[in-house]
Amino acid sequence: MRSVTAIAHANIALAKYWGKADEALNLPAVPSLSLTLEALRTVTTVTFTGAARGDELVLDGVAVTGGRPLERASALLDRVRAMAGLRSGARVESRNEFPTASGLASSASGFAALAVAASAAAGLDLTPTQLSRLARQSSASAARSMWGGYVALAARAHEAEPVAPWEHLPLVMLVALTTNGPKEISSTAGMKHTAETSPYYAGWLASAPRVFEEVRRAILEADLERLGAAVEHSALSMHASMLAARPAVRYFAPATLRVLDRLLDLRRAGRSAYATMDAGPHVKVLTSAGDADPVEAALRELPEVRSILRSRGGPAACVVAETVR
Ligand code: DP6
Repeated sequence: MRSVTAIAHANIALAKYWGKADEALNLPAVPSLSLTLEALRTVTTVTFTGAARGDELVLDGVAVTGGRPLERASALLDRVRAMAGLRSGARVESRNEFPTASGLASSASGFAALAVAASAAAGLDLTPTQLSRLARQSSASAARSMWGGYVALAARAHEAEPVAPWEHLPLVMLVALTTNGPKEISSTAGMKHTAETSPYYAGWLASAPRVFEEVRRAILEADLERLGAAVEHSALSMHASMLAARPAVRYFAPATLRVLDRLLDLRRAGRSAYATMDAGPHVKVLTSAGDADPVEAALRELPEVRSILRSRGGPAACVVAETVR
């Protein structure tokens, strides 16, 4: 019986993925580009038990006995079993090393860590590209967590690819956890509803590749000001497409807008501070190493900001322990 523990870090998209080109294969409709974050990591251990029973999942110390999370984990394990010619059930223990009640998406780091740990526990020796493909089938953003630094996932791509190491443009990410907004719907459901009902979805599909290219170029040219402007445009265009869905998909809370206002003030005062938001009310702020302290202090003054996590770029997903019994 082989037990393998893997670590993967969450990533934040700078050019957003929203919408699928193929639902069954889970291929993204638009290109996306992310930064893997050191401060947000998931640690996952997989053991193939040898028994023909179903899979067991323990998430942050709590046994998950059914529902979507277990189904999604089992679907990934099924793909690994098919590749390795295994029939055994697996025990999966996964821990998010960031505040779990924070509403931060853990599916990217979760599925990346699961892909790495499960394939190694099954005796497979997969390349990062093969692992990225495996993770992407569960959650497209997870494909990007296979690499450290800046990572791209092209439209209709089966796997992500590295763009540049974080050191190339060593920005600081401040994750401002805000007071909660409206009840959130999952990204998968939100993007399907947007594609089906929003008249602005076509505009999003048409414009996203251009914005992706701007983000990519700004990173390669290490130009934080241009990157920040393109990053905000990508996030706000994505949210605009959702707001025009019927009924609207709205992740913004009053707190989200308060943070955006504060960033405008900071920029007027000469600071580098740019926002991006995902399927929740929290705001991730890109800033420079030199401006991180004053920007963080200004955000902490807001009563709607519950806490702030500071991160630099993080490394690739990897195996950290392996035991054979
Ligand atoms: C807003 O990767 O969670 O965070 O492929 O359906 O699992 P599925 O979606 P998911 O969507 C992430 C959406 C986003 C933007 C991004 O990370 O690019």
